[in-house]
Amino acid sequence: MTDSKRFTITAALPYTNGPIHIGHLAGVYVPADIYARFLRSQGHDVAFICGSDEHGVPITIKAKNEGVSPQDIVDKYHAIIKKSFEDFGITFDNYSRTSAKIHHETASVFFKTLYDKGKFVEEVTEQLYDQEANQFLADRFVTGTCPKCGNEEAYGDQCENCGSSLNATDLINPRSAITGNKPTLKQTKHWFLPLDQYEGFLKDWILVDHKKDWKPNVYGQCKSWIDDGLRPRAVTRDLDWGIPVPVEGGKGKVLYVWFDAPIGYISSTKEWAEREGKDWESYWKDKDTTLVHFIGKDNIVFHCIIFPSMLKAEGSYILPENVPANEFLNLEGNKLSTSKNWAVWLPEYLEDFPQQQDVLRYVLTANAPESKDNDFTWNDFQARNNNELVAIFGNFINRVVVLTNKYYDGIVPGASSFSKVDEETLTKMRAYPAVISSAIERYRFREASQELMNLARLGNKYLADAEPWKVIKEDETRTRTIMFVALQIASAMATLSEPFLPFTSNKLKGILCHSALDTETVWNDIKSSEILLPAGHRIGKAELLFSKIENDAIQAQLDKLEATKKANETAGKEIDPIKNEITWDDFAKLDIRVGTVLEAEKMPKTKKLLMLKVDTGLDIRTIVSGIAESFTAEEVVGKKVTVLANLAPRTLRGVESEGMILMTETPEGKLVFVNPEGADTENGLRIS
Ligand code: MF3
Ligand code: ZN
Repeated sequence: MTDSKRFTITAALPYTNGPIHIGHLAGVYVPADIYARFLRSQGHDVAFICGSDEHGVPITIKAKNEGVSPQDIVDKYHAIIKKSFEDFGITFDNYSRTSAKIHHETASVFFKTLYDKGKFVEEVTEQLYDQEANQFLADRFVTGTCPKCGNEEAYGDQCENCGSSLNATDLINPRSAITGNKPTLKQTKHWFLPLDQYEGFLKDWILVDHKKDWKPNVYGQCKSWIDDGLRPRAVTRDLDWGIPVPVEGGKGKVLYVWFDAPIGYISSTKEWAEREGKDWESYWKDKDTTLVHFIGKDNIVFHCIIFPSMLKAEGSYILPENVPANEFLNLEGNKLSTSKNWAVWLPEYLEDFPQQQDVLRYVLTANAPESKDNDFTWNDFQARNNNELVAIFGNFINRVVVLTNKYYDGIVPGASSFSKVDEETLTKMRAYPAVISSAIERYRFREASQELMNLARLGNKYLADAEPWKVIKEDETRTRTIMFVALQIASAMATLSEPFLPFTSNKLKGILCHSALDTETVWNDIKSSEILLPAGHRIGKAELLFSKIENDAIQAQLDKLEATKKANETAGKEIDPIKNEITWDDFAKLDIRVGTVLEAEKMPKTKKLLMLKVDTGLDIRTIVSGIAESFTAEEVVGKKVTVLANLAPRTLRGVESEGMILMTETPEGKLVFVNPEGADTENGLRIS
């Protein structure tokens, strides 16, 4: 047995503003669970830690939209998410939440410690403010154009397109997510973590020490941030939902959600240790403990730059050994999206595919977005189930168990002499624990899952070549040996599949009656020449481990997505609501005429404005019109247009505009003339 070591394994705390979907499972929780189960199977001491991330702006926005309190939102989704994890066999040792008292205390003390040590810079700066909502705008309360990549939908703390971590004031053309208003600037005091002072530390720790062992995507992102130069980052916010800033002057302010959330790993560990009578500090402060963070790629900066700098500033904590972040999973070619409902939600999956957790775990692992974004398709899901789990894994086990029952009444037969093929097959089988371990230790879970499938292939090929169903007619003794060998492989499958397919492993151990063995089979037993299922051991009856998924079940899922697509399209085409009723007299005040554009010229230094000379039949006048993004000057000359002729003149960029050209705008933002085209529509005719 390898020496037992201590591991603290964390999985990103999910935001409690919705249920979780396949992207979360594939990116973070399934790989983390495989890793934790694997470590436990090797006899290590593991704390596998998670919890709900219950602060932050998206939760308050959702609460506002639904007319409930943020606490209502987090209570609801905390319960749903926790249940999904249990349902899918994610074996957290503790699942806590950041609204828990122990977390508020831990995060407050952490902040206070850094404050007392003088690790923060206190500064009054101008921050974005929404006058109408009476509120400062940070993080997800503000969107705008990313200064790095030009994405127009970047958030005040991060651009999801290029992954840059931003300050709200970096955004070009910021807009309030609450009112849509253009924010103003207002002074406010905040505490900043001067990340620039940690550059040297981060360079040594990441760029030197972890150049080789971190995944290229993680290392690459870190390197580009560090190379770009780090700037102080505010760790407090002017909000009322979160952990109150526990120092003088902190009234009305809370800790930045990305300051408190990772501390949630620590408070969740504390909660667990208190319950289990363990010492939490050895999991966070002992140099011999290995800390690993499982996250998605949008969390890299927080786990590789900011949190480690916080831990370093505090001084008594260990740093993560690795941060094996995954890329993103797409669904049928489109980005997963909570707001567009473009997802496979875990509770819904279980309704449609009851007790098929392992199928999803397997498909998401076999196709995990480990080194690049990957696509989940329902056809691939069906193929992986039918062609791999059913046809290879399930088929092998079924044949072994059925034949053992048929020939030997369920009792493992004794082997006599092993042939060369038997020996070779057993030798190959004994190599699998090391092959699978090595893949898992390198965080290559796809590869590991395929090696497991290769072991089933080995078993299938062995049976197909040895043909016990034919040999039984001539050579009883040889058949016993064949079945003995096949049963050893089946038993190895039961043990080695546990981290990946825990429900299947359990069921298979039940069928093979593992619990009646003297000792539990461990990976090392498979490596050695130990007999896994001894002659005379009785196994149970065959049960199907997997069942075929039919086309109609897949079609139903595709139809569901199609319906979502349609619903999103119609939602995009929402009609403007009707305005307040007016009287006939109100309408009669408008003097609307047919006119013709005689001349047009782009207004210098503007993007949108054309200066037009229009014949209204009454006169020839100047009208400045905001149509230059849709039309060139040449295009509009000679056009018949509808003119509002008695609008009070306005001066635009120094030019007096006498009237207005009526236009309509398509949902795509294209302008179209309200066009009184035709030979009879002479200039000056009234429109009424
Ligand atoms: N809630 C964040 C997300 O879903 C992850 C938080 S991880 C933690 O992206 F480290 F802050 F806990
Ligand atoms: Zn960007």
